[in-house]
Amino acid sequence: MKNKLIGIFIALTVLLELAMLGCSPRSNTSTDSLHEAFSGIFFIGTAMDIPQITGENQQALDVIKRHFNSIVAENCMKSVSIQPVKGQFDFTHSDQFMAFGRENGMHIVGHTLIWHSQAPDWFFVDKNGGVVSPEVLTERMRTHIHTLAGRYKGQVHGWDVVNEAIMEDGSWRNSMFYQILGEDFVRLAFEFAHETDPDAELYYNDYGMANPGRREGVIRMVKDLQAQGIRIDGIGMQGHVHLDSPTIEEFEESIVAFSELGLKVMITELDVSVLPWPGTFVSADVAMSAAYQAEMNPYADNLPDNVYEELRNRYLDLFRLFIKHQDHISRVTTWGVHDGQSWRNYWPVEGRVDYPLLFDRNYEPKPFVLEIIDMGNEARK
Ligand code: GLA
Repeated sequence: MKNKLIGIFIALTVLLELAMLGCSPRSNTSTDSLHEAFSGIFFIGTAMDIPQITGENQQALDVIKRHFNSIVAENCMKSVSIQPVKGQFDFTHSDQFMAFGRENGMHIVGHTLIWHSQAPDWFFVDKNGGVVSPEVLTERMRTHIHTLAGRYKGQVHGWDVVNEAIMEDGSWRNSMFYQILGEDFVRLAFEFAHETDPDAELYYNDYGMANPGRREGVIRMVKDLQAQGIRIDGIGMQGHVHLDSPTIEEFEESIVAFSELGLKVMITELDVSVLPWPGTFVSADVAMSAAYQAEMNPYADNLPDNVYEELRNRYLDLFRLFIKHQDHISRVTTWGVHDGQSWRNYWPVEGRVDYPLLFDRNYEPKPFVLEIIDMGNEARK
């Protein structure tokens, strides 16, 4: 009896420790579900768009439930959607998003509390049309964060507290937040988030994080927050990458550098564009020409085998890298489920056909996804 009790105690302790690590226990059984293949290694997440959140796109929801165990809202938690008019909060979609997450036992990420983009104009303007004072902006940030993070207190596992504050050369982005409050806006955002939901993890999220300049700038900012005793738990490396850039080595350097800050690293917005990047100095005439349009949208009908092969290699290289650094990476989230929904089809050029995600336009996993699943099964052994 005593031995049995000790056994139960040990099992409970192990489970508790795993829960504290934010992981489910590893199982050795092979699986054909992506998130199960990586169970105990890192969460496999996806961003959800509105037709998924409202339940209109059932096919996508079936894929999400089978292959993903973490979700983030693509747009509906951004400030322009949540508080389009001062004091008027619209939680219609965010409530539905949260309900889906709760009902399906998802690890839920809130995106994003403070971001210069997709923010309503009123946030920075007083009633006479002038720029608000630092005190007024601080209050607006406080209200926004308290209201949004407060509504989902205890339900959101981690918040992208600040998005995209650092430029490629490591300097501060000259956003309205920065212009009005200076670098202190980041500290304030993290403090407001932490006092609202002390159990939620708090992240800084940015793109182009493999870039050495931005990497150094982010490290400086994080060390400064840490020196002030501000809670920050993780760094989100948006993974909006291309077939050949950044290099795996550059990406790896940032994973290592961020983990050395004692923080979790998350690959937050993974998608691999196969399309050419538009030139900067293209005249309006050329830009409108049929030849240029065709050059910019080369795979409108289908993806040639050789480009598929490049995409496959790129994804396999990335997942190999993530598995190598599994001790520091807590989540890999793709920016959407299937190619048809991806923002890459309309940015930086409208109306293209890109192939950046793991599932194709028919919601089928691309063949290399089975290889990624095998990699997860192998890594769990
Ligand atoms: C950034 C943001 C995301 C999203 C993408 C484009 O990466 O963090 O929320 O807007 O741009 O879809």
